[in-house]
Amino acid sequence: MNRFLRSASGAIYLLFCSIMLWGFCPSATAQSDLNGYWDLRIPNPSGDGTFRDTYFQLQQDGTAIHGQLIRGQQQIPIAGTLENGSIHFATQPPASTNGREQRPVVFEGSYANGKLTLSIQRRDGTVQGLAEKVTEEATQPPKPLPLPALKDVPDNGLARTPPMGWNSWNKFAGKVDDASVRTMADAIVSSGMNKVGYVYINIDDTWELGRDAAGNILPNKKFPDMKALADYVHSKGLKLGIYSSPGPQTCAGYPGSFAHVQQDAATYAGWGIDYLKYDLCSDRDVYKDDAPTLQAIYQEMGDALRATHRPIIYSLCEYGSARVWEGWGEKSGGNLWRTTGDIEDKWESMDKIGFSQIKLASYVKPGHWNDPDMLEIGNGGMTADEYRTHMSLWSLLAAPLIAGNDLRTMTDETKSILMNTDVIAIDQDPQFQPVAEVSSDAGIEVLMRPLHDGSVVVGIFNRSDDAAAGKFSRSSLPASFSGKKLRVHDLWKHADVAMDGDAFTATVPKHGVVMLRISVR
Ligand code: GLA
Repeated sequence: MNRFLRSASGAIYLLFCSIMLWGFCPSATAQSDLNGYWDLRIPNPSGDGTFRDTYFQLQQDGTAIHGQLIRGQQQIPIAGTLENGSIHFATQPPASTNGREQRPVVFEGSYANGKLTLSIQRRDGTVQGLAEKVTEEATQPPKPLPLPALKDVPDNGLARTPPMGWNSWNKFAGKVDDASVRTMADAIVSSGMNKVGYVYINIDDTWELGRDAAGNILPNKKFPDMKALADYVHSKGLKLGIYSSPGPQTCAGYPGSFAHVQQDAATYAGWGIDYLKYDLCSDRDVYKDDAPTLQAIYQEMGDALRATHRPIIYSLCEYGSARVWEGWGEKSGGNLWRTTGDIEDKWESMDKIGFSQIKLASYVKPGHWNDPDMLEIGNGGMTADEYRTHMSLWSLLAAPLIAGNDLRTMTDETKSILMNTDVIAIDQDPQFQPVAEVSSDAGIEVLMRPLHDGSVVVGIFNRSDDAAAGKFSRSSLPASFSGKKLRVHDLWKHADVAMDGDAFTATVPKHGVVMLRISVR
């Protein structure tokens, strides 16, 4: 029985017991047995009218409690106590999810007269809900549906250079709504970001409500009219992106596109959507995680988008599963695909993700890009030098430049980083050639990438925890530079600099970068 039917039948049962047959229904004490399967329904914090279900199974042994948290096919052991009506239990955490370490989930609350009330900690604070007993079946993911035979989805002709824009997740997570998207569209124009290439305004997870009787996906209270929002964004010369999952649920527990793939693609096209981020999430509870299965799953949506005849950028979010860059991402119709777990607004996260990408740089080509996740520039967790490294590295990698900060309150420094047109020009070079490592020594990484006009860009990065001397030797340049007079332009100082004799040397700040464009004079 699905959860809506469950809630409705529970309500009818209670009404029946209270007005008709008081004393005939099972007593509170008979129901007070904790043993069994439970669904904890917690309202989502944004007040969008949606709930998140958490399933678990409990077994009581005196005051001791044990059991398991059920997440799709994953079962995570639970242990705790029930004493004088106070209940407390916690999970043994799995090692990681999407590349992030997980902390134990702690449940705390009360159990009296068969009523189980629990609170848990979420990213946005403590949240509370009522748990209700369910069948074991209700805790399980749906059975897999047949997948299409593999084929190559034809290139949609989009994203000839890496996509640029803004996405709601890094800064707003569940707080994104119609008003914030509109004001972000206003800000991308008033700041001038649209003029330097940032045109996609992408709504990430938490916009969904459920489905109508015909199975059409509906936006929740935060998005009263998706078509009107798309019209507004388009009226500014911008494009609108949306988010879903091939699984039954998105990563934040909202409805995904499982069993509704073609219908959802048609809905998005009808609203005027221009970009879809399709995030694996609970799909992993239903299907295997190998390359042919993932290709079929992503191909189904790739094909469905194509069938709408609307140009929609297709962004695969699968955390680098099954070496997506080796071919199945492109075959499934993807314009970009995630190569890593989620980025965080911390040096360690950005550094680890960014520098792990160099070896993958040659797997991409126009229309089909590696995506090391969205930008954190301006979110406050890193220094300006670290954010310059973020922007420089993503541009050298030809990564999508999807800002993830609040564009309405940017400092001048943040603007100067996100809108450095010399650096953006590296990212958007019209004849993509991959970056390569020149040297790596004691935290100094030197990278070089050839550009369409015969010049090269060189990044001298300092990953160490102190300022350090960086050096780039003339002998590392391609043969065509040999014996020629050179122009060396510093892309962050916005000035020409000198190459002394056979090498360029500079002090590079801790976690900072010197980025040079070198051309023959
Ligand atoms: C995953 C993705 C993130 C974001 C969230 C939303 O973790 O990798 O980029 O979309 O889901 O729930």
